[in-house]
Amino acid sequence: MSQHDKHLQLFIRQITTAAANAALYQLEHPQVLNLCRQALDQLKILFSQTPEITFKIIENRLIFADHPVTSNLSVERFVEALKALKISFIQISPGLTTEELLILAGHLSKRTAQHQNLRKTENIRYGQVEVRYRDPASGPEKSSVLADFSAISEKDRDKFMDIYQGVSRKKQLNVLGITEIVADFVSTFETHSNILLALAPLRSMDEYAYTHSTNICLLNLAQAKLLGIEGPLLNEIGVAAMLHDVGKMFISPDILNKPGKLDPDEWKMMQQHPQLGAEYLLNAPGIPRLAVVTAYEHHIGYDGRGYPATPRSWPLNTCSYMTSISDVYDALRTRRSYKEPLTFDQISTIMLESAGKSLHPDLTRSFLKALAELESPSH
Ligand SMILES: [Fe+2]
Ligand SMILES: [Fe+2]
Repeated sequence: MSQHDKHLQLFIRQITTAAANAALYQLEHPQVLNLCRQALDQLKILFSQTPEITFKIIENRLIFADHPVTSNLSVERFVEALKALKISFIQISPGLTTEELLILAGHLSKRTAQHQNLRKTENIRYGQVEVRYRDPASGPEKSSVLADFSAISEKDRDKFMDIYQGVSRKKQLNVLGITEIVADFVSTFETHSNILLALAPLRSMDEYAYTHSTNICLLNLAQAKLLGIEGPLLNEIGVAAMLHDVGKMFISPDILNKPGKLDPDEWKMMQQHPQLGAEYLLNAPGIPRLAVVTAYEHHIGYDGRGYPATPRSWPLNTCSYMTSISDVYDALRTRRSYKEPLTFDQISTIMLESAGKSLHPDLTRSFLKALAELESPSH
């Protein structure tokens, strides 16, 4: 770690100094180029020890390889610049060039968050937060929702399983089958850094969002299994479910966490999350198209109502239907602010009323039927 630290510290010092020089003179100044070259050398040494370099900001700390980086003036400046740019993480891959570091130095020298101007390059990716709907009245220091980019760990896997138990309680047969799928699913998450990247902001949003997503994932996988879907498509359905609400990371937490009813303006913003999510996923490499479609369509009803507004003849993907069903079920099952949790029968009644309206009738019925079999016979 101390070896790590030395090269890391040198890199940070060189890139922040390059940025300071770029701000003082210009990006084309030979000293800026020189510093970027030196910074690249340090990164190359780091890459000989690790396949990928990710910096993230948690609170005001710079995190590298899951450890806080020892702070000093350069590190502080680096963190400040990233925060000013609303960058929550930077992911660098080994093919990095001096030109790309120059672009990074250019960004760091500007220190203004202009999403559209933050140019990601082949080997540098940025995660940004709270860019679109930040409340200007709250000032620049308002604590951002920052990405927790740690890879899905053993603990998370356990959590996954715990949630699963909560979702579909009991009955070994199905549990075993679905648990195996989830384990597979989790292992694909572990090897697909792009998918992780897409998940990172969602996980950071709050615990509920993550829990909700894993619930939807498990419920979708269960539904897909009922339809006899196996193999890669099953995985894609799981991924699509995990990411269906990713657009919420663009919605202000004040709206997301508002306890009471949303006013019409807030509701309008909230209703943009499917489109924002789809746009985000469309630009994220390695994301299955199904995830883009599902993010876009999951609030469009079977009857064509809902949002975003679509032409009447708009054909919905089956995964979107499944996701709506899982979404409604999870919302009813976990609704928090009411006196008592709804029983399965109550949930079932509510959902059957929506079958053929907002929810796909056949899929809803088979879903409820399968869940009823999981419920204890005494209900
Ligand atoms: Fe949603
Ligand atoms: Fe949702």
